[in-house]
Amino acid sequence: MKYSCFIAFLAIVIALAQNYSDLVVVEAVSCDGFVSKKDVQFILNGKPFYANGFNAYWLAYEATDPTTRFKITYAFQNATSHGMTIARTWGFHDGGYRALQTAPGSYDELTFQGLDFAIVEAKRLGIKLIITFVNNYSDFGGRKQYVAWAKSSGQNVSSDDDFYTNPLVKQFYKNHVKTMVNRVNTFTKVVYKDEPAIMGWELMNEPQCRADPSGKTLMDWINEMAPYVKSVDSNHLLSTGLEGFYGDSSPQRKTSLNPVAANVLGTDFIANHNLDSIDFASIHSYPDLWFPNLDENARLDYLRKWLEGHIEDAQNILKKPIILGEFGKPSNTPGYTQAQRDAVFTTTFDTIYASAQKGGPAAGALFWHVISDGMDNFKDALSIVLSDNTSTVNIISQQSRKMAFLGGKGKLSRKIKD
Ligand SMILES: *[C@@H]1O[C@H](CO)[C@@H](O)[C@H](O)[C@H]1NC(C)=O
Ligand SMILES: *[C@@H]1O[C@H](CO)[C@@H](O)[C@H](O)[C@H]1NC(C)=O
Ligand SMILES: *[C@@H]1O[C@H](CO)[C@@H](O)[C@H](O)[C@H]1NC(C)=O
Ligand SMILES: *[C@@H]1O[C@H](CO)[C@@H](O)[C@H](O)[C@H]1NC(C)=O
Ligand SMILES: *[C@@H]1O[C@H](CO)[C@@H](O)[C@H](O)[C@H]1NC(C)=O
Repeated sequence: MKYSCFIAFLAIVIALAQNYSDLVVVEAVSCDGFVSKKDVQFILNGKPFYANGFNAYWLAYEATDPTTRFKITYAFQNATSHGMTIARTWGFHDGGYRALQTAPGSYDELTFQGLDFAIVEAKRLGIKLIITFVNNYSDFGGRKQYVAWAKSSGQNVSSDDDFYTNPLVKQFYKNHVKTMVNRVNTFTKVVYKDEPAIMGWELMNEPQCRADPSGKTLMDWINEMAPYVKSVDSNHLLSTGLEGFYGDSSPQRKTSLNPVAANVLGTDFIANHNLDSIDFASIHSYPDLWFPNLDENARLDYLRKWLEGHIEDAQNILKKPIILGEFGKPSNTPGYTQAQRDAVFTTTFDTIYASAQKGGPAAGALFWHVISDGMDNFKDALSIVLSDNTSTVNIISQQSRKMAFLGGKGKLSRKIKD
């Protein structure tokens, strides 16, 4: 361990010990630098960074209450014991119970300390965080809440899609971004924008704009917000949070790969990522939701093509890394079996790995989503408890090891449970 790392580590241990009696000192102390990008690859500590990871949107929410913070620690410990090194989580909770942002520009300090804690634990355990600034949908507030705030300030807004155009709403959003990147972590005293445990930001979770299927409205918004984020935080990578639906800039892909219903959502995978301030591409994959009437084999076939198409475009057109930010197999799909879930994970991982193995842009897949044991309030058709020794967890573990070796992080394999 480098001296400076050791000091940083001690500071974390001391800060945590104040409120966190159970603290176990682990051997895996992360002294990583920032994740950066070179051509189609992520770079970490001078080497290509290929990884495996997970979503845990609830981190700040559960860490708001110090008595439930152990859930974050358990989830991260379980994840690293299966070799995972990237977690995606929400950097928002606009209004409502345990809100982060209680009103435009007003923040709940305890909830922010929850997010602080999640970052500290990620740093301590060697996990890189991708943090999203707002939600498309109304879960945890989202665009709907921003528009409601503007309305109650007297703005002439009604639709959620006014989010992208109303000047006051846009200012609210920028203020939130600015508050996030300038937040001083109460445990480490490190400003978020200087924190290497944060891998990058996403503009929004699954942005869509039905009000303008041409895609212009969302494109204008990204053209304004992406450079804004980079202007207040030039240390971190940025992506869109897009699901990956194609638009008019790629008519062929639009026809061959989009679910028809996605053609009215106003997104454009190529155009939306094809600007300098966007460092990596984002896609999600949910064939079960997009094609409820296809049979399982056809859905797997589609899944492979969906991923391969985007990976090809990331390589040839965007020339950027690509992260599969969400995927999973809903257990409420008619006829669901765990073997089907394993097939979805295997197909996904194999497609990602095939690109990564050649030094390509597919840098990782983050399944939706991890919960800790006993978190019944967050249990749903997609949640996975890593401490359940299922075949799917084993498949996740193997992918982590394979990806880590590619990036020269092979030493991680020693910590992986087989
Ligand atoms: C530690 O807990 C005390 C209350 O027990 C609280 O006042 C303080 O803000 C907490 N410190 C941190 C860093 O969370
Ligand atoms: C995005 O938000 C709109 C409401 O404004 C909603 O109709 C749509 O389903 C949301 N999309 C996703 C993927 O959540
Ligand atoms: C509010 O906006 C709608 C359409 O965006 C417009 O038709 C209406 O005239 C506006 N109302 C006021 C009071 O400006
Ligand atoms: C994994 O999480 C469980 C609770 O779900 C916990 O009991 C266990 O200690 C964790 N395992 C590791 C390796 O941290
Ligand atoms: C996990 O389950 C497999 C069989 O599916 C078994 O061989 C292995 O020992 C189990 N590991 C743990 C840690 O329980």
